[in-house]
Amino acid sequence: MKQFDVVTLFPGMFRSPLEESILRRAQDRGLIRVAVHDLRSFTRDRHRVVDDTPYGGGAGMVLKPEPIFAAVRALNPGGAATVVMLTPQGKPFTQALAAALAARDHLILVCGRYEGFDERVRLGLEAREVSIGDYVLTGGEVPALVVIDAVARLVPGVLGDADSAREDSFATGLLDHPQYTRPPVFEGLAVPEPLLSGDHGRIRRWRRKEALRRTRARRPDLLARAPLSDEDRALLEEIARECGAPGPGDETL
Ligand code: 6GU
Repeated sequence: MKQFDVVTLFPGMFRSPLEESILRRAQDRGLIRVAVHDLRSFTRDRHRVVDDTPYGGGAGMVLKPEPIFAAVRALNPGGAATVVMLTPQGKPFTQALAAALAARDHLILVCGRYEGFDERVRLGLEAREVSIGDYVLTGGEVPALVVIDAVARLVPGVLGDADSAREDSFATGLLDHPQYTRPPVFEGLAVPEPLLSGDHGRIRRWRRKEALRRTRARRPDLLARAPLSDEDRALLEEIARECGAPGPGDETL
C-alpha cells in the first residue's frame, strides 16, 4: 500500500480526478490510498488565516508556516514520509523523479498558492520543491494530481498488462511511433503501406524510423541523449536526406 496525503486550500479540485479510471481502480483494490486534507482545518485562529504579506514588501501573499507545519506533523508523526511542495520554483518533475518517489511508501504533497511558501516550510520540514514544467499555473493542485498519476502508475499492479508495456517509450528515450487503426483510408489519408504489409521486419523498421523522425523534429534534446544503434544512425541519415523539403503534416509549432 502506498499512501498519498495531499494538503491543499482546495480539496474539491481533487474529487473527480481521483474517482475515475485507473486511479479509482487502484484505490478500490487497495494498491494506493489518497487522502486530501484542507490546509485551513490546521489553523488555530478564529479567522482560519493561512497567508500573510511578505516581509520586505511586494505584491501578493505568502503561505504562513504554522498551518503547514501542523498539517505535516499530524500526517507524519514518525517523520518517515517524503514531503513534496508543489511550486513553480521547484526542480522539474521527470519520469526519473516519478520512479524515485514510487519507491517511497508515504508521500505528503503540499500545494502552493499565491506567491508561494514561507521558506521555513522547506527548511524545517526537509521538504523538496517540485515543478511540473516551465509555465505558470494558478496553484499546486493540478501539479499534485500529475505527481499522483505518474507515481501511482508505477506502483506494481496498478496498470494492467495492456498499459504497462507502453512504459518503454521513455525508457528507450524516444517518443513513440505514430499509430493507425481502421479504416485504411480516412478523408483521403491512407495508412502507411508497411503497416498493412504483414511483414513484421518492415513494420518494426518503419516504426523505429518514425519514432526517430518524431523525436528529431519535436524533442532533439531527447534524441541527443538516447542510446542509438547502428541501424538507428542509418535511419537518421535517411531521415536527414528526406528532410530537404518539408512534407505533409510537418510541424512548425
Ligand atoms: Cl508545482 N505550481 C504552479 N503554481 N505553477 C506551476 C507548477 C507548480 N509547475 C509548473 N507550473
